[in-house]
Amino acid sequence: MSHLLEVIDLEVKFGLRFGDLTAINGISFSLDQGERMGLVGESGAGKSVTGFAIINLISKPGFISGGRVVFNDRDLTSLSTEEMRDIRGNRISMIFQDPMMTLNPVLTIGTQMVETLLAHRRLTRAEAESIALEKLRKVQIPSPEKRLAQYPHEFSGGMRQRIVIAIALLTDPAIIIADEPTTALDVTIQAEIMDLLQQLCESERTGLILITHDLGVVSQVTEKMAVMYAGKIVEAGPTDRIVADPRHPYTQGLIQALPGSLQPGSRLNQIPGMMPTLTDIPPGCAFNPRCPLCETICRHQEPPLIPVDHLTRQVACHMVTPDPGQTTR
Ligand SMILES: Nc1ncnc2c1ncn2[C@@H]1O[C@H](COP(=O)(O)OP(=O)(O)OP(=O)(O)O)[C@@H](O)[C@H]1O
Ligand SMILES: [Mg+2]
Repeated sequence: MSHLLEVIDLEVKFGLRFGDLTAINGISFSLDQGERMGLVGESGAGKSVTGFAIINLISKPGFISGGRVVFNDRDLTSLSTEEMRDIRGNRISMIFQDPMMTLNPVLTIGTQMVETLLAHRRLTRAEAESIALEKLRKVQIPSPEKRLAQYPHEFSGGMRQRIVIAIALLTDPAIIIADEPTTALDVTIQAEIMDLLQQLCESERTGLILITHDLGVVSQVTEKMAVMYAGKIVEAGPTDRIVADPRHPYTQGLIQALPGSLQPGSRLNQIPGMMPTLTDIPPGCAFNPRCPLCETICRHQEPPLIPVDHLTRQVACHMVTPDPGQTTR
């Protein structure tokens, strides 16, 4: 059976004067209806670029240089701008860290919600308004009728992010991509909003790709996760398994030293050294200069993703033994 979304060998480059830099280097994953997946990794790993690439919104000088993004059996990387408009903000919605990336400061919330709906659906204004109200109720905005006539600046940060979620839900998307949706908010509000997003995705059977530095949130909200390093996935599998028993030395580094059970607010552990910039990704395994287990092979040969943990997980590390009977690809 085909997946709702399938990212296959996706590659993104940025064309600069001195040549192309590879930001996303052949990543693959899938998402089924109602499935929630976390995308984690340090700053610069390529998480946001992946999110933008899925909705074909990489802006120049960036471009998708390889691979496919198959959604409902259609390759999004080959759609026209017109066809893509029918998917983006409609079948796949994106939520950003800063609500003002979505909200227009000079329009009322009601106008923005109604216009978004009318852009994608054949509805009367009255019908659009009633859907807007229904979604505001869903994200628990008090007195939504009154709120429709207000401008973004009349809301608190947490309320603004709820409205952005309501806008993301307007068209009943199949997938929401949320890029650090709560990091600008204080911790208690973050937890409330993440709860809400999880509940809504669950009840509406909406797929979620949650991009975050917060391992607590990933383990609370998602069923599976992928860990990214220097534009590649280095470990992927069920969230609870990875968090309980990380296999890649990078994942181990990120999770180490975090207090016993993960609570929302658990940021990634600091690993000595830095993620390489795109101009100086080392040969072999990109993590080798920071890796406590590094051997000669790691400096020369890129480790492929291999299945481990009874085929439930994939890890790209020369030092991890594959499941018995599994050969490396
Ligand atoms: N417009 C651009 N031009 C050149 N390089 C870019 C551009 N946008 C992103 N990059 C590079 O692509 C890489 C991945 O960036 P990306 O924004 O996806 O990281 P991220 O994992 O989302 O990090 P963060 O956690 O800080 O948001 C980085 O090395 C970044 O410098
Ligand atoms: Mg980012």
